Amino acid sequence: MKKIAILTSGGDAPGMNAAIRGILRMAIFLNLEVCGVYQGYQGLLEEEFINMTSFMAGGIIHRGGTILKTARCALFTSDSIQKKAVGILKARHVDSVIVIGGDGSLKGAAALSRQGIPTITIPATIDNDMAGTEETIGFDTAVNTVLYAVRKIRDTAASHNRAAIIEVMGRHSGHIALAAGLSSGAEYILVPEIPYRKDALAHSLLSQMKLKRTNSIIICAEGAAHGPELATWLKEHTNIDVCVTNLGYIQRGGEPSSRDSLLGSLFGAKAVEYLFKQEWVHHMVGVIKNQVVFTPYEEIEGHIKEFNAELYKLASLLADREPIDKI
Ligand code: ADP
Ligand code: F6P
Repeated sequence: MKKIAILTSGGDAPGMNAAIRGILRMAIFLNLEVCGVYQGYQGLLEEEFINMTSFMAGGIIHRGGTILKTARCALFTSDSIQKKAVGILKARHVDSVIVIGGDGSLKGAAALSRQGIPTITIPATIDNDMAGTEETIGFDTAVNTVLYAVRKIRDTAASHNRAAIIEVMGRHSGHIALAAGLSSGAEYILVPEIPYRKDALAHSLLSQMKLKRTNSIIICAEGAAHGPELATWLKEHTNIDVCVTNLGYIQRGGEPSSRDSLLGSLFGAKAVEYLFKQEWVHHMVGVIKNQVVFTPYEEIEGHIKEFNAELYKLASLLADREPIDKI
C-alpha cells in the first residue's frame, strides 16, 4: 500500500471536509501518497486528479461542502465504464480508493472493489439512510439546521394562529423529519415510511384549533408529500390558514456541527488505518453503539437503515393530538 485516492460523491454533506482532513493527515503519518479526485466518479473518468499535501487539510475542518467537489455520474453503473476507471487508477499506481458519499456512492465503490481495486466507503449523506452505521456524516448538522428553522417558523405561526408545513429533504427516507420533529416538538411528522390519511390530519388539526392550540407544526419529508399541494388541500378542507416553507438546500450546507466534524475526522483516520493494515478492503466504516465498525459491502449493499417506528410513535404521543392514520 503506497498510494491512495480520495473522492467525494453524490449529495454533499457537512463534515465531508473533516473526513478529507482525517484521511490526509493519517495517510501522511503512515507515509502514504495521497491524490484527490475532483467531482466524484465523473472526475475519476475524466482524470481530474490532484496530488494532496498536509497543507491542503488546513483550514477546512469547519467548512461545509467538499473541497474535492462532487457530482452524480449515471454512466458509472456500466461495467465497461467501471473497467475504464480501474485502468485509470492502475495507470496512476493508485492502490486503494476511499469514497466519501451516500448509498449510491457506496455501490460505485463496491463495483470498483469487484473490478479489483480495494475501496473503503465513508458514509456521508444528510439523509442518514445507510445501513451499517447509526449515523452518517451530515445528518446531525442538517437536523440542527431544520430545528433552528422550525423554532423561527413556530414564532410567526403562533402570532398568526397559523398551521405551518415545513418540507425537509429525504426523497426516500424520513430520518431528518423524525429527528427534527421530535427535537422541535412538532405536532405532526409526515414520512414516506409510515402512511397517514389527509382527512385524519385535517380532522386532527381542527381539533387542535378548537383547543386553542393555534400553531401546529407539520414537518413533512419530501418523499411523504409536496408541501404546497398539502397546504392547498388542508386550506380547502379545514379553512385553517396554513403557511408553507421548503427548507431545500440550506439543509445540505453550513458549518458542520461538532458531531459531524468529529465523525468526519474519526471515520477518515480510521479508514486509512484499516486499509493500511488489511490485505484487502471492500468495507464501509461506521459507528454502532459508539464503536467504529467496518462492514463488508455485501452486508450493506441494497439495504437501507430501518426507520425507527418506536421513536415515531413517541413523537406522536408527546404531541398530544389526535392520530392521523385513522379518524
Ligand atoms: P448518494 O451517494 O448521495 O446516494 P447517488 O445515489 O446519486 O448519491 O450516487 C452517487 C453516484 O454513485 C452516482 O451518480 C453514480 O456515479 C454512483 N452510483 C450510484 N449507484 C451505482 C451503482 N449501482 N453502480 C455503480 N455506481 C453507482
Ligand atoms: O441524498 C441527499 C439529498 O439531499 C436528498 O435528501 C435529496 O432529495 C437529494 O439529495 C437532492 O439531490 P440533488 O442535490 O441532486 O438535487
